[in-house]
Amino acid sequence: MKRILVTGASGQIGSELTPALRERHGASSVVASDIRPPAPGTRLADGPFEQLDVRERARLREIVAAQRIDTIYHLAAILSATGEAKPQLAWDVNITGLVNVLEVARENPGVRVFCPSSIAVFGPETPRTPAPQLTVLRPSTIYGLTKVTGELLGDYYVERYGLDVRGLRYPGIISSETPPGGGTTDYAVDIFYKALQDGHYTCFVGPDTVLPMMYMPDCIRATLALMDADGARLTRHCDYNVAGLSFSAAELAAAIAAQLPGFVCTYEPDFRQAIADSWPQTLDDSAARADWNWRPAFDLDSMTRDMLRRLGPRLGR
Ligand code: NAD
Ligand code: SER
Repeated sequence: MKRILVTGASGQIGSELTPALRERHGASSVVASDIRPPAPGTRLADGPFEQLDVRERARLREIVAAQRIDTIYHLAAILSATGEAKPQLAWDVNITGLVNVLEVARENPGVRVFCPSSIAVFGPETPRTPAPQLTVLRPSTIYGLTKVTGELLGDYYVERYGLDVRGLRYPGIISSETPPGGGTTDYAVDIFYKALQDGHYTCFVGPDTVLPMMYMPDCIRATLALMDADGARLTRHCDYNVAGLSFSAAELAAAIAAQLPGFVCTYEPDFRQAIADSWPQTLDDSAARADWNWRPAFDLDSMTRDMLRRLGPRLGR
């Protein structure tokens, strides 16, 4: 029987990945952890929770031993926009936290680690359409620096210590359960809330900004598929490109307006425009497709309909 620990479980991805893992393995087998407890009444609150700051190795070690953990989904991180406001914190949480997870896994032979990377590993010198699997990684954000370092560290632990560490370069994740936590791609979620609440959204990137995105059900499927994959078939470890959908901010606004007539989006780019401009527009995910049969299920239209269907009733529409 699997014994799973999720760090950063109260965040955008953890709040949906943790319940998905509990459906598969049983609620008591999946321990959520974060510096902030789950909100009462949420699906995340429906199972064991441990308060854990991933920078505290002794506490992590204690939880892994007491709960007999054999798999860690390490989601705790500071994302791109917050990282630019607090670069030292981003380095500390993203790097010290990851080193602690890898070291505790090393102390416990057989523990498998999932550590997500991001499109933020790419920078202005990376080809943008598509970003290749193997390419220039010279990001301009501290978040991107930590993600490149994380990929290399994970690969190092695989080669040096024989650890089983796996990771995906997630695109911007779009979801309805929990708002995103301080990233550059947050506009692609915020726009749905504002469209339903106010009929108007002021977007913080310009209308022609195109970025790789992914709808949460595809994000969960990709994560579980990589962790289920036969290790012998994997040609990469911690850096799989994985594509969902790519669209401009104006195309997203038009897709929402097609469902919500009268919705208007205006544009006031801020500091996040430069971050978005340093990332690619599309991704070459042929390695993920070949190695573990990755195929996204959602396109712009089906994602938009599903987001509005889920969020609408919650926001009184
Ligand atoms: P999020 O910001 O929504 O959640 C991160 C969680 O980590 C939060 O609940 C926060 O309380 C927690 N946390 C922060 N500092 C902590 C600490 N010191 N100890 C323990 N917990 C701490 O982020 P997310 O979107 O759920 O992202 C999860 C992972 O996926 C991250 O590694 C992120 O870099 C990666 N990722 C996310 C996206 C996206 O669009 N959401 C895209 C690419 C990569
Ligand atoms: N969605 C994330 C961000 O914008 C990408 O890793 O920071």
